[in-house]
Amino acid sequence: MRGFYSRLFIAFAVLLFILLTGLGVVLGQFFHIVDIKADAIVQRKYSLYLFVLIVVTYIISLFFAARIIKHFTKPIDSVAETAEKIASGDYLARTPLVQDAQQDRLALSINQIARNLHEMSIMRGMEKERLKTLIESMGSGLLMFGREGSVNLLNGVFENTFGYTKDELIGKPFKDIGLPTNIEKIIEDVFLTEEAQEKQVKHGQTFLSVYGAPVIGKHGNWLGIIVVLHDITELIRLEEVRKDFVANVSHELRTPITSIKGFTETLLDGAMAEQNVLKEFLEIIQKESNRLQLLVDDLLELSGIEREGFDLHISKVTVAEVIQDAINIVSGKLIRKDMSIEMNDFSQITFEVDRDRLIQVMVNLLSNAINYSKEHTTIRINITESDREVIIEVKDEGIGIKQDELPRLFERFYRVDRARSRESGGTGLGLAIVKHLIEAHGGHVAVESEIGVGTSFFIVLPKGSEK
Ligand SMILES: Nc1ncnc2c1ncn2[C@@H]1O[C@H](COP(=O)(O)OP(=O)(O)OP(=O)(O)O)[C@@H](O)[C@H]1O
Ligand SMILES: [Mg+2]
Repeated sequence: MRGFYSRLFIAFAVLLFILLTGLGVVLGQFFHIVDIKADAIVQRKYSLYLFVLIVVTYIISLFFAARIIKHFTKPIDSVAETAEKIASGDYLARTPLVQDAQQDRLALSINQIARNLHEMSIMRGMEKERLKTLIESMGSGLLMFGREGSVNLLNGVFENTFGYTKDELIGKPFKDIGLPTNIEKIIEDVFLTEEAQEKQVKHGQTFLSVYGAPVIGKHGNWLGIIVVLHDITELIRLEEVRKDFVANVSHELRTPITSIKGFTETLLDGAMAEQNVLKEFLEIIQKESNRLQLLVDDLLELSGIEREGFDLHISKVTVAEVIQDAINIVSGKLIRKDMSIEMNDFSQITFEVDRDRLIQVMVNLLSNAINYSKEHTTIRINITESDREVIIEVKDEGIGIKQDELPRLFERFYRVDRARSRESGGTGLGLAIVKHLIEAHGGHVAVESEIGVGTSFFIVLPKGSEK
């Protein structure tokens, strides 16, 4: 730029000098300042004048050339300076206006460019921030590889799942990361086939759905690949529960059906001729049909409670009336095993619950306490209250449950001793129903037990039901 200015300046100076000198010569001729017939002294005098005139003209030319150059180049200088700042990323740089339409057009344009770039950089920043938030909060692990196969993006979920940090992985080729081989294989396949791949992979205790796909740019060019890892452990667990449930229901239904079918066939084959055999077999068939009915009723009950929008009929009741009604229902069994029930004084305690449902819960717990205890033992019902909760404890002196069985106790069909439980007519759904009913009230259940000593079931209910 400086070189250009110097050349321009010299050109102007020379031009002006020629112009002014030319003008001087023309004027000299016009006024006959130089007389060629004059004597030598006068000639020398005129030469001196001429010389002085040339020097003065030269100085004036320099002065005007500098002024002119400055006048025209100052706005360009300012625009150039702004352009340099914009190029280096300072989008807030602006060129001042000089009130000259032509020169201000340039300044206005460069200022507009700066404003546009500033807006674009703000928008880009926002987009970048939005994308970052999306990537970080998507709940799935994300990994992106460039065309050459090295990592150029990953999110926090991926870091946590595999225990890497961003700094460790950015720029690393996928083969060097140390990913499980099945995931590495998916990435490799996407690179080779340039087609999306999806597979389920087990990583420690976690099941992952791994989805890899090529990233294709706007103009169809291949930019790399993206891998999304979604935790499907809970889904797999639910699928297992569903499979177990179907298997259990089928098994539970098959047992009484096989029995009914067997005894009916034996009777039809001729056994019904004998009156006592006929009676005995019909009684077995009746018992098994009752069991079948109980099972189907319990299953319908459970699915009813689980259904969304299950209605509780909440009213304010005393704990004592609920407990008394439940005891009345199990009293036959109690008497048969010569067992007794002791209680603390809870006559003043009230809560807001679905009365019938809570009686059902208590009947289930008391039946278990009776079924899984020896004769002549005692069941203790302790009821305590706090500001917000009522806690009901049903404690027996029965056979007890092993510690490792406790976490599974509230699962459907879970029975510690299948033979014994079936003997007592159980379906293994009682505690599952208890748990669902209490949770529908906004409460929760707990259990403590010791083999040979006894078992305590706890029900914690909010006083004013949340439903
Ligand atoms: N008080 C208890 N003492 C010892 N074991 C118990 C007690 N209560 C429950 N259990 C164990 O937990 C299992 C599940 O109980 P749950 O009430 O769900 O089923 P169930 O009693 O077998 O059948 P039902 O559906 O008729 O109640 C029982 O089979 C039993 O092994
Ligand atoms: Mg039971």
